[in-house]
Amino acid sequence: MTDRDDGDREPPRPAGVGPHGSGRPGRLPGLERVPEPELMDDPEQAAAYSAADFAEPHEAFVATFLDRFGAVGGEVLDLGCGPADVTVRLARALPAARLVGVDGAEPMLALARRRVAEAGLGDRVTFELRRLPDPTLLGRRFDAVVSNSLLHHLADPRTLWEAVAACARPGAPVLVMDLRRPPDGPALDLLVEREAAGEPEVLRHDFRASLRAAYRPDEVERQLDERGLLGLAVEPLGDRHLVVSGRAP
Ligand SMILES: C[S@@+](CC[C@H](N)C(=O)[O-])C[C@H]1O[C@@H](n2cnc3c(N)ncnc32)[C@H](O)[C@@H]1O
Repeated sequence: MTDRDDGDREPPRPAGVGPHGSGRPGRLPGLERVPEPELMDDPEQAAAYSAADFAEPHEAFVATFLDRFGAVGGEVLDLGCGPADVTVRLARALPAARLVGVDGAEPMLALARRRVAEAGLGDRVTFELRRLPDPTLLGRRFDAVVSNSLLHHLADPRTLWEAVAACARPGAPVLVMDLRRPPDGPALDLLVEREAAGEPEVLRHDFRASLRAAYRPDEVERQLDERGLLGLAVEPLGDRHLVVSGRAP
């Protein structure tokens, strides 16, 4: 999908949202979820995203991983790696690990390969062009599975949890971070103004759309329950993120 203008049409009902008698997501209290396109395969969009300064949340991702799991080795899978800013930061923090980044957008992977080459990490970080769900990935097992900011892009959130459940070895660390949907329109406007003031219009648009497409912690809890990922816990982080972490079953 390349269409970025989802407007205000009624979103399809994602699995795991509103299954317990609460009705359709559009009828839930608070800001209605509006899905955004999955892949970021527009070269201009990918370049703007890659050039943006995500140092703070991405360093927080790495710090959270180290805090909870330590400097693991082995093979680490990064789902929806995009231009590999998180992948590279994690590779530096995990010197005994090999990282495999997966993304369905070739323009993102081109930027990712360049970033890894510049970082001199080509011997430990590799990329695979895959659009999830990808049955051939599900047969492989990794020593840790991470993902940052993929969940809100997926048309069906079960795609991510299925990949986590299938690809993480039993007991493997799992860390997923994403935006969380603000409670209402004014809170959304405030975040966009505060966090994306002065950014290019393409980024402001994407940030707003991403906040609108993000899940709330209670929705993610239901997704995890549904997939039987009971060892993973969801918690809010700061004023706009959520963290899912724990050990794979
Ligand atoms: C917001 S970016 C996050 C990139 C990176 N993880 C980061 O934190 O900077 C989301 C990425 O997920 C990718 N993506 C979305 N849906 C996907 C799918 N179904 N399969 C593979 N990649 C997907 C997009 O192409 C995009 O690169």
